[in-house]
Amino acid sequence: MKAIILSGGKGTRLRPLTHTNAKQLIPVANKPILYFVIEQILEAGITDIGVIISPETGARVREVVGSGERWDCSITYILQEKPLGLAHAVKTAAHFLGREPFLMFLGDNLIQGGVKHLVADFEETDIEAIIQLKEVKNPQQFGVAQLGYGEQVIRLMEKPKDPPSNLALVGVYLFKSQIFAAIEKITPSWRGELEITDAIQKLIDDGYRVKACQLQGWWLDTGKKDDILEANRVILDEYVCYQNLGFVDQDSVLAGRVEIGVGTKVINSRLRGPICIGKNVIIKDSFIGPYTTVGENSVLEHVGVEHSVVLENCRLYNVDRIEDSLIGYNTLVEKGVTRKNTVRLFVGDDSQVIV
Ligand code: DAU
Repeated sequence: MKAIILSGGKGTRLRPLTHTNAKQLIPVANKPILYFVIEQILEAGITDIGVIISPETGARVREVVGSGERWDCSITYILQEKPLGLAHAVKTAAHFLGREPFLMFLGDNLIQGGVKHLVADFEETDIEAIIQLKEVKNPQQFGVAQLGYGEQVIRLMEKPKDPPSNLALVGVYLFKSQIFAAIEKITPSWRGELEITDAIQKLIDDGYRVKACQLQGWWLDTGKKDDILEANRVILDEYVCYQNLGFVDQDSVLAGRVEIGVGTKVINSRLRGPICIGKNVIIKDSFIGPYTTVGENSVLEHVGVEHSVVLENCRLYNVDRIEDSLIGYNTLVEKGVTRKNTVRLFVGDDSQVIV
């Protein structure tokens, strides 16, 4: 079986981070989301993976992911000229996929427990598609499924105003080659995209069987800032172990599960896990609280940071408390000397600053 990962699209909801970088490459606990996806696909025994990329961020995805040698698998890049929808992406990958059954995984989704069992189930059955569902509080923001007898899917709608259930489509799908004919029969939705949800509905209308599998664990769709913070929290909670590969001086205190990368120096600071500090970071006279990730080559001096993601090459100086924040690559955050109640800013397009 082959797999495709959808890593194209626009990523507008995560601007400015996604002006130059793909949203699927944003790191969670210092590891790109796409790496988690690839590793879950490999865990299911699939080693031939096609990655859908866009003209805007494709080169960066290739650079970060490479051709698969890191995992000893084969990665083929498939260029989708425009983000015309998930079903359009599948159509673009038709040549790579051939007529074999395949797994489709959205490159900005993280799920607990991986896809091993789902893939094994699909390989054993003769049904035409399996989709994964999860109960959510806000079904209007997703594809939504209505189930009939025995987990059989009877109706699907994309971002419905009036959802028929609270079961959202998680970004994992298993298909056989009938999906290509179904895609040929659909037309673009109100948002101008060929929706995979509509193509699956077409399969059902044509008499094919689509089964649902409900995900018991967590699912994180990392499209927005708060989703990234939540993904960071969940991943740190679940995966981080105590590991100190850097230097911690005698005046510093580490508590709980703290991961410190090679070349990092911690001076006169308190670090309370779970946290993940990347390579070559300098932390001086600071407090780093739970659920924080600091990207490599960053410098933090006289700061308190908690429940935040600081990406690579940042400089944070003299700020007592930073909380619930996502700080983009190469950013300077500093408390300077200004007139009372004055804030001095140099903020990129599409940013958010709460003071
Ligand atoms: O996250 C789950 C949801 O994903 C499902 O519940 C929906 O049914 C499904 O349509 C999808 O909705 P989104 O609106 O969140 O999809 P998004 O535009 O964020 O794209 C999902 C991934 O696919 C993302 O990694 C970008 C990539 N993509 C997207 C489009 C539109 C492509 O590679 N090509 C595309 O043309």
